[in-house]
Amino acid sequence: MLFYFTGTGNSLLAAHRLASSDEKLINMADAVNSGKFSYIVPENENVGFVFPVYFYSVPDIVERFCRRLKLKNQNYVYAVITCGGSIGGSGGLLWEMLSKRNIELYNVFELLMPDNAMLFYIIPNGSEVSERLVNAEKNLSGIKNKISAHEIKVIKGRAAAKIGRTAYRLFRSTKKFCVDNSCVGCGLCAKNCPDKAIEMKGGKPHWIKDACTKCTACINRCPSKAIQYGKATVKRNRYVNPILGGK
Ligand SMILES: Cc1cc2nc3c(=O)[nH]c(=O)nc-3n(C[C@H](O)[C@H](O)[C@H](O)COP(=O)(O)O)c2cc1C
Ligand code: SF4
Ligand code: SF4
Repeated sequence: MLFYFTGTGNSLLAAHRLASSDEKLINMADAVNSGKFSYIVPENENVGFVFPVYFYSVPDIVERFCRRLKLKNQNYVYAVITCGGSIGGSGGLLWEMLSKRNIELYNVFELLMPDNAMLFYIIPNGSEVSERLVNAEKNLSGIKNKISAHEIKVIKGRAAAKIGRTAYRLFRSTKKFCVDNSCVGCGLCAKNCPDKAIEMKGGKPHWIKDACTKCTACINRCPSKAIQYGKATVKRNRYVNPILGGK
């Protein structure tokens, strides 16, 4: 059983590569939105958590899922956290959250992927992104082998993640999102928002929540590049993993 969350597709790609052919993939955002927190794990099946790191911490919607999760039967439990640089102490934070639900996390793997954090700075594009994707595929094969061997590792670093989480909380406001004239009213941003924070009104997106998970799906995946986050993002690259087919 594999629980995943993604904003721009990196973690979805990882989840697809790691899942066996008959393994169930569960989107944690959909689970939160539908209030489904109890699962029966098939006998002898691993339990995986795959998601991106935010501020060296755990995405808000993943935290909301993990804090209410109930698992019946658990075997080997692992996490693969995707990042643009480093996962910091996010694994330790996840370990702590799951322990409180009586779920033992045995290993956390860091997976370097293209950076999607264009709200903060100019993210790489072109060959640098392609190179990252090629290396990620190689690293995923290695991680898959370690998962099959049920590799166990001591999970550290909660303190650093807690500092990151404080910064993340301050940054979750949706106030700076806006839309420019190139919006064609396709509604993809509202459809792709895992937090249900966007509503289409009069053919344009409106951010209806004060704070969101900050996954960047709306701004990175808008086909018209019509969403901005203040003025700084006008000239910045967007990023979408090819698994999402540009949507
Ligand atoms: C709000 C936000 C915060 C991020 N913080 C970090 C971070 O602390 N460390 C890091 O290496 N990457 C960070 N990233 C980059 C993403 O974790 C990385 O690109 C990830 O693979 C995106 O996964 P996804 O495509 O499944 O959404 C951040 C991205 C966002 C949107
Ligand atoms: S995805 Fe972009 S073009 Fe489509 S409605 Fe949203 S802002 Fe407009
Ligand atoms: S509003 Fe945008 S950044 Fe915030 S959760 Fe929704 S898609 Fe992600």
